[in-house]
Amino acid sequence: PVLVVDYGAQYAQLIARRVREANVYSEIVPHTFTTEQILAKNPAAIILSGGPSSVYADGAPSVGADLFEAGVPVLGICYGFQAMANALGGVVAETGLREYGATDASSSGAARSILAGIPENQNVWMSHGDSVSKAPEGFEVLATTAGAPVAAFANEAKRLYGVQWHPEVKHSAHGQQVLENFLYHGAGLDGSWTAANILDEQVEKIRAQVGDGRAICGLSGGVDSAVAAALVQRAIGDQLTCVFVNHGLLREGEAEQVEMDFVAATGAKLYIADERERFLTALDGVTDPETKRKIIGREFIRAFEAAETAILAEAADSGQPVKFLVQGTLYPDVVESGGGEGASNIKSHHNVGGLPEDLDFELVEPLRALFKDEVRAVGKQLGLPAEIVMRQPFPGPGLGIRIIGAVNEERLELLRKADAIARAELTAAGLDEEVWQMPVVLLADVRSVGVQGDGRTYGHPIVLRPVSSEDAMTADWSRLPYDLLARISNRITNEVDGVNRVVLDVTSKPPGTIEWE
Ligand code: XMP
Repeated sequence: PVLVVDYGAQYAQLIARRVREANVYSEIVPHTFTTEQILAKNPAAIILSGGPSSVYADGAPSVGADLFEAGVPVLGICYGFQAMANALGGVVAETGLREYGATDASSSGAARSILAGIPENQNVWMSHGDSVSKAPEGFEVLATTAGAPVAAFANEAKRLYGVQWHPEVKHSAHGQQVLENFLYHGAGLDGSWTAANILDEQVEKIRAQVGDGRAICGLSGGVDSAVAAALVQRAIGDQLTCVFVNHGLLREGEAEQVEMDFVAATGAKLYIADERERFLTALDGVTDPETKRKIIGREFIRAFEAAETAILAEAADSGQPVKFLVQGTLYPDVVESGGGEGASNIKSHHNVGGLPEDLDFELVEPLRALFKDEVRAVGKQLGLPAEIVMRQPFPGPGLGIRIIGAVNEERLELLRKADAIARAELTAAGLDEEVWQMPVVLLADVRSVGVQGDGRTYGHPIVLRPVSSEDAMTADWSRLPYDLLARISNRITNEVDGVNRVVLDVTSKPPGTIEWE
């Protein structure tokens, strides 16, 4: 892999993604890794990321000079660039000339090396206090800016490179070119890491792990579990059973999507647990959001276990117990939980159906190395329909937390209709990708007066909550075109009995969350 050494700023994941966009596989390692640990991973190239600190700050992470003697191509970015300069005998100085944001950089002489093919004057995105004032011996200066006498350098013989700016952010207009110059020319890599290759590689790995064992997988209706299941199905066929719990809090067409589209695309063996009654009963009269979530979570586990028990019992009867549990864990979760190369074993507690109390499953996590967009690409490669692969996020507790007030079938039906209209119009306007998600919320305990036909109405408001976001941690409300909003409003108030008002949520996150409960 190409290793991205994470110096603790928010840039390492972005760099890893950009490298992968160049079809080169990359992994993130913490800066606490020693040179020995880094080299043990047999990196094809190394990228040192940006970081928050000055190389002179107390406790600033440093890079051992030995990393640069190993013959592995290295690119230092921002902090990584300065740490590299420092380790190799260059001078990093506090110039007092800080640069933040868009900055003009000029090539020293003709653009070359990692700047090949880039205009001699380019706009780059900077974020630094200290600057490299003198390049280490053997390095040539490739670019300068007003605040950075050495803004990029290279030692072609040793295949060592560095840039002060952040090529990984989209504000650096030619950033991807810098990374690709490093990867393809500096490190001599080819861009062969594609969805098709990932798929083949994972299928092999799953077969090797599972052998002729049996596996189960829960389908949530979301992208990750669908792609994970489809991958495992591709690898081991009918040794996999998928479980889908219909909790009755789904949107219009969602259960059918799993029951029909997923199965049609994959040929997977699907066990459907119709548990709508269980959830409605448990939620009867409950209005507190946290209580709703707890109840839904608890009942979900019970429902899943009941389904699992039925499958396990049948499998045990046939003499082929289920040993593997498939999960759609993604790379960001792995990185955020400490990069864990750790054990992937999970205990699942079973006290139903006369099965042993603790069943040990071995986890199969075929998406562990992938980012969300890569999961989507693999899903497409597997032939999953766009409705599944490009699906916007939807919360596990479903419409249960989009009815403000108690949940019942009548209210669910009303919300389902309104939501289906809003989604259809958003799709028709071609905005599915631009909008991160658009919760449609029913204010079930609020009523307002309206007039329809020649009569007074006293109905419920529907809230539209379209947001744009990168990762759901922060969000802004989407500026949807007025005519689209008008169409949605018209259709909902005309077509959904009991709704006489549509309102738009114009709150960012923070302070508002994306969901209302
Ligand atoms: P909030 O409302 O916290 O939502 O801004 C952030 C993102 O998480 C989704 N969400 C959930 N997803 N189970 C889930 O699987 C949940 O309980 C849950 N609650 C919120 C929400 O739709 C948004 O994408």
